[in-house]
Amino acid sequence: METPPSGAILDVRSQQAPGGRLYRLDRELGRGAQGTVMLAQRMDPNDPGATYAVAMKFIDPTDMQADTGRELAGLRGKVRRAILPAPMETARWRTRLLRRPRETPVVIQGYAPGPDLAALHETKHGGTPASLTETVTVLAQVAGTLKDLHAQGRVHQDIKPENLIGTRQESGSRSAYLIDWDMCAPDGTMGGAGTPLYMAPEALAMDRITGKCDVYALGMTAVTIATGTNDRGFPQNVTEHWPQMAMLFNGKPPVRQTGHPYLDLTLARATDSDHRQRSDALDLMTDLAPMALTASPTSYSAADRTACANRLVERASDPQRRHLLLDGLAARALSSALPDDSPSQAALVALAQATKPVCDAWVAQHGDPGATLDHRQEQQPAPATPALAEPLPRRWP
Ligand SMILES: Nc1ncnc2c1ncn2[C@@H]1O[C@H](COP(=O)(O)OP(=O)(O)O)[C@@H](O)[C@H]1O
Ligand SMILES: [Mg+2]
Repeated sequence: METPPSGAILDVRSQQAPGGRLYRLDRELGRGAQGTVMLAQRMDPNDPGATYAVAMKFIDPTDMQADTGRELAGLRGKVRRAILPAPMETARWRTRLLRRPRETPVVIQGYAPGPDLAALHETKHGGTPASLTETVTVLAQVAGTLKDLHAQGRVHQDIKPENLIGTRQESGSRSAYLIDWDMCAPDGTMGGAGTPLYMAPEALAMDRITGKCDVYALGMTAVTIATGTNDRGFPQNVTEHWPQMAMLFNGKPPVRQTGHPYLDLTLARATDSDHRQRSDALDLMTDLAPMALTASPTSYSAADRTACANRLVERASDPQRRHLLLDGLAARALSSALPDDSPSQAALVALAQATKPVCDAWVAQHGDPGATLDHRQEQQPAPATPALAEPLPRRWP
């Protein structure tokens, strides 16, 4: 795959702009398995002062079909904080040494000014771990993005720190934008694609994937950015490392914890190996409410708050899905975040009342989940990956 060099002028022709548009390549933003992403400036020959930045992804044309790009572009405006690619286009470019112009397929997408969360928070990429307030903000925002995406019947399949850009708003607050839509697929597709370290057991086993695979990956992402490392003895190269993988299927993934008791309960539910027990994006938003409504109140729209309240009431009446503490504390937080005349208010108050003894006792011991976020204890060293005693099963349950 040939990527034009920095400084190259690209003439991009597409169905939307058959006459071509000019872009100047600035610098490399990142390089992954799929291709290279470059920062480029759109140039308007009629107005030389007016340029705006885009991210251009140069990929092997077989990796992303043009109609996939068109479908993804159709998600624009429907998914919050998502940097969605335009359909694939063709760029002509030449260098001083090359007489004949080259043609390269390119995908143009919005530029999110900011490093990705791996660069920001993973120590092996030179970052520093996120505070728990930042971690909860990322979780709440990306859970909202996923809720919208899953409502469109699509699974991203590659949620991880590298694919989230941390952009600082003018107000100083941070927003996490989701990029890298190369593997986005319809719900129910057979799994197997993604980054093993973040993949849910059913995705690793190449069973059917659902939005819950993204929720699992988001839970793993949160642990990674909060601890600064994804070194859980679970390597990237799947096929050479079946022993570590098998642990996931045994229901005991060596998940590290963040050290915050309420956040860890939330993450345990979001990364449950059994997808039937696992949170979906709305469950995760609901469980996060006691922390997120303090740490990042703008992450929840009024509609989100109502949706969480409804989910909570629904969940509380199902003994299989009930969790007295999480449900009770979420009921408290949502009840104060919703107007008094909200239709779910009575049910929230009743739920908070019914769970009061459990919640009060827990809060007396651990403190209020939203108020204790940045009182994190010293990190415990992660336990070494245990050796696998049994031979590997051929097929997983
Ligand atoms: N729209 C964008 N704005 C800013 N940086 C980006 C953008 N798209 C990609 N990048 C950077 O380039 C890296 C690789 O891009 P990505 O689309 O994830 O490609 P790959 O499929 O190779 O992983 C990202 O991790 C990020 O650092
Ligand atoms: Mg990527």
